[in-house]
Amino acid sequence: MSPRRILVTAALPYANGPIHIGHLLEYIQTDIWVRFQKLVGNRCLYICADDTHGTAIMIRARQEGRSETELIDQMSQAHQRDFGAFQIQFDNYGSTNSPENYALCKEFWAALRAQGLIAQRDVSQLFDPQAGTFLADRFVKGSCPKCQAQNQYGDNCDKCGATYSPTDLIDPLSTLSGARPELRSSMHLFVELEKLHPFLQQWTQSGDHLQPEVANYLKGHFLGEPLRDWDISRPTPYFGFEIPDAPGNYWYVWFDAPIGYIASTAQWCQRTGDRLETWWNDPHTEIHHFIGKDITYFHTLFWPGMLKSAGFNLPTKVHIHGFLTVGAEKMSKSKGTFIKAETYLAHLDPAYLRYYFASKLGPRVDDLDLNTDELVAKVNADLVGKVVNLASRSARFVESIGLAPNYPDDGGLFVRAAQAGTAVSDAYESCDYAKAMRLIMELADQANPYVENSQPWVLAKDPTKRDELQAVCTVALNLFRQLVVYLAPVLPKLAEQCGRLLNEPITNWQQSQQPLLGTKVSAFEHMLQRVKQEDITAMIENSKDSVSEPATSSPQWNDTAEGLTAEPLAEICTIDDFAKVDLRVARVIAAEQVPEARKLLKLTLSLGGDVQKTVFAGIKAAYQPDQLVGRLVVCVANLAPRQMKFGLSEGMVTAAGPGGEEVFLLGVDTGAKPGQRVH
Ligand code: 2FM
Ligand code: ZN
Repeated sequence: MSPRRILVTAALPYANGPIHIGHLLEYIQTDIWVRFQKLVGNRCLYICADDTHGTAIMIRARQEGRSETELIDQMSQAHQRDFGAFQIQFDNYGSTNSPENYALCKEFWAALRAQGLIAQRDVSQLFDPQAGTFLADRFVKGSCPKCQAQNQYGDNCDKCGATYSPTDLIDPLSTLSGARPELRSSMHLFVELEKLHPFLQQWTQSGDHLQPEVANYLKGHFLGEPLRDWDISRPTPYFGFEIPDAPGNYWYVWFDAPIGYIASTAQWCQRTGDRLETWWNDPHTEIHHFIGKDITYFHTLFWPGMLKSAGFNLPTKVHIHGFLTVGAEKMSKSKGTFIKAETYLAHLDPAYLRYYFASKLGPRVDDLDLNTDELVAKVNADLVGKVVNLASRSARFVESIGLAPNYPDDGGLFVRAAQAGTAVSDAYESCDYAKAMRLIMELADQANPYVENSQPWVLAKDPTKRDELQAVCTVALNLFRQLVVYLAPVLPKLAEQCGRLLNEPITNWQQSQQPLLGTKVSAFEHMLQRVKQEDITAMIENSKDSVSEPATSSPQWNDTAEGLTAEPLAEICTIDDFAKVDLRVARVIAAEQVPEARKLLKLTLSLGGDVQKTVFAGIKAAYQPDQLVGRLVVCVANLAPRQMKFGLSEGMVTAAGPGGEEVFLLGVDTGAKPGQRVH
């Protein structure tokens, strides 16, 4: 059979957040499939990129006072560093903000226009007059129109589960500025998806491209009625590509994101001198997308529709996986189960997670639970106890003599395990890695008694048993290597170590079918440590501090946007601007009423030593003088003195709140000393 040509993608991660174990499930699943295809000799590319456009990136860049491109460059580096550390090996890692992507977006757009699939109409949307931008659903909060729960996002209610439009929210507020949004109308462009209904009906229901449960879901939820037009443009300001024939409007991020798969392939082609048409227009190329179930709609309706319209290859298969839970619950910061890739790497070997996911992943859309006790048990029992053990109990006895020149009688173990290779490879091919791991561990269970019964450590003590020792170790190391070839898609580092140990790199599946003979055996290097429970505990502890709660989870505090609404955020200032204000810790050493003043108290502040300042503070309605004496406050120490009717005010004490009785002096934590500067 001639090798297949296969292009594989995993979903493009958003550039506005770090990679976490929820992401890793998919990139590891896909990486295993790609490594398997390469190992069996198929021509296979693993393509990915950062998904860089949209309001969230624009807002974050604005808040951080830097350009979007600076932000996305930094995120891309961080993402690639994390993927690399988990041995996720892309053939090209691109960005949707690339010239290649812009050129392809124009091509898709021209095709959609030419086929009369684009419509135009006005859309009313909430607009934040402070931030000067239309508000995506996630940037509006208010009370649920159904159950009145406060502090709910613009698309759905955490409390009662209702879904609605942000314009239905009661008392909506912008989460960007706290301003009350206005309803504004603007022109939007739409893809008239209904015109592609017959094609999508046939493509999704053909039985070839989607898991059966996915095809049924689409049939039951979308295809039984007319498909809604897809709103594909956003008015300025928006971080993305401006639509050439609609100036002031940008393609919505979900338009250019999947086109990024092709753009990233184009970059790979430029680098390697290949032709893009070979990968995206030749019907002999297979295209496999791996995605999570939350983005099914985009990949099984919009994307095939776009590809069809623009004359590109359609996906051969969209492989959809479920969500990752940890300890049977949604990942959560407070429980320390929202684990960033970076945090994981500081505590545990990536091989553990790769093997654990593989042992749990099946071909269906089911959610997958990470149970850390199970991870410890599986890795220690299977990988360390059954696989690596075969080598660690035999390799060092043949370091000086190498493997035997002829394969000894092993009672048929090697041949039987070679025959099992077809079932293992079928399981990988159909994404049933759990089955593949089960089969491999069954083979390991058969190999281990051979070593236990043959006792190479006993033979090694008897110089007359040298040949027997070499024979036993040759069998043990070949059974080990055979398992490692089968495991190579999951555990590439172990495959490299095995290659070094036996002086022949593992490069193809066929190596599992023939024993390796007569080679030197290198000094045994430690291959895999046992997982230690304390490292898992430390990782979870560390995760409690290092990330913020994912945006979708319910807020822990029901803080309203009242403060921001009353006084929207000021313009960005630089650190130098901030440094001009000299804030100091001060102790109130005297406080007295100013009878003629309606709002003021006269405070004497000590900045330590004999430096004192008198200030008149508008806190009379909120504080009694004797409540204040002795407490530490924060004062603006370099404010120009101001002559007041009652005396000279030489500074200001800092406080929050709207005024009157609602004034709250800023305090400092215990230990601070008068005179210390606030930075
Ligand atoms: O859901 C997400 O994380 C998106 N960034 C996935 C995009 S996949 C593709 F279409 F680009
Ligand atoms: Zn509700």
